[in-house]
Amino acid sequence: MWRQCVQRSCFHFSSCLMKKSRTPAEQRWLQRQLRDPYVKASHQNNFRCRSAFKLLEIDDQFRLLQPGHSVVDCGAAPGAWSQVAVQRVNSAGTDPELPRGTVVGIDLLNIPPLDGARLLSCHDVTDPATQAKLLELLPAGRAHVILSDMAPNASGFRDMDHEKLITMCLSLIDLAEKILQPSGSLLCKYWDGALAGTLQGQLCGAFGSVRSLKPHASRKDSAERYFLARMYRKPVR
Ligand SMILES: C[S@@+](CC[C@H](N)C(=O)[O-])C[C@H]1O[C@@H](n2cnc3c(N)ncnc32)[C@H](O)[C@@H]1O
Repeated sequence: MWRQCVQRSCFHFSSCLMKKSRTPAEQRWLQRQLRDPYVKASHQNNFRCRSAFKLLEIDDQFRLLQPGHSVVDCGAAPGAWSQVAVQRVNSAGTDPELPRGTVVGIDLLNIPPLDGARLLSCHDVTDPATQAKLLELLPAGRAHVILSDMAPNASGFRDMDHEKLITMCLSLIDLAEKILQPSGSLLCKYWDGALAGTLQGQLCGAFGSVRSLKPHASRKDSAERYFLARMYRKPVR
C-alpha cells in the first residue's frame, strides 16, 4: 500500500497521512511530501498530483497544447496531466469562444472520471486493441500531441527499470506512426541511463526536433527526464 502511494503519488496522499504506524522510510517520504511546495500547490489548485506542474511548466515554455488540439495522455492515472490537457485544449468547452479539443487518457489502472476527457482505464497503451479504440475516439483518428508520463512499477534495480521505461518509450514511436499527425509532438518521460541515447536517436529519426528536459517540478534527486520531440515526420509507406 505504501509503495503504491509513493508511486501513484499524492492522489492517495490523504489516506497515507491517516495511516497510524509508519516505518522510518514512510516517515521520511511523508516529511518530504509535507515540505514539497508542489504538493501544497497541487492541493490548492485541485490537481490530482504534483506532476501537473511538470506539464504546466513544459507547456508554458513550448506551447504544445493549443485550444482545439487532440491529445493522448499515456499513463494518465490518477489524471493530473489530463486535467492540464483538458484546460489547455478546451476539451470541456469551458471557453465557448475557443475551438474545443479532445483528450483521451489511458492507464493500466483506474482513472477517476474527468470532465472533458475520454478515459480508457485498465488499458495497456501497447495493446493493439487499445490503439484501435484510440483511433475511434480521436477526431479523424489523429492526435496533435502524444503525452507520456508512463512508468513501470519500480523494481528498485535502476538499470532494469531504466531499460523497461526506454522500451515503453520506444513503443510510443510505433504508436505515433498510427495516430500522430504530421508535425505533431511527443512528450515522454524517461529515466536517464545508458539507453537514453538510443531512444534519442530513434526519436531524431522520426521527428524534426528533439530535446531533453528536466522541469523544476521534477525532483532533483530523481533520474526522471523528458524528451520533447516535435515536428513529426510521418514515414511514407
Ligand atoms: C507517474 S504515473 C502517471 C501520473 C500522471 N501523469 C498524472 O499526472 O496523474 C505513471 C502511470 O503509468 C501507468 N502505466 C505504466 N505502464 C503502462 C502501460 N503499458 N499502459 C498504460 N499505462 C501504463 C501506470 O499505471 C501509472 O499510473
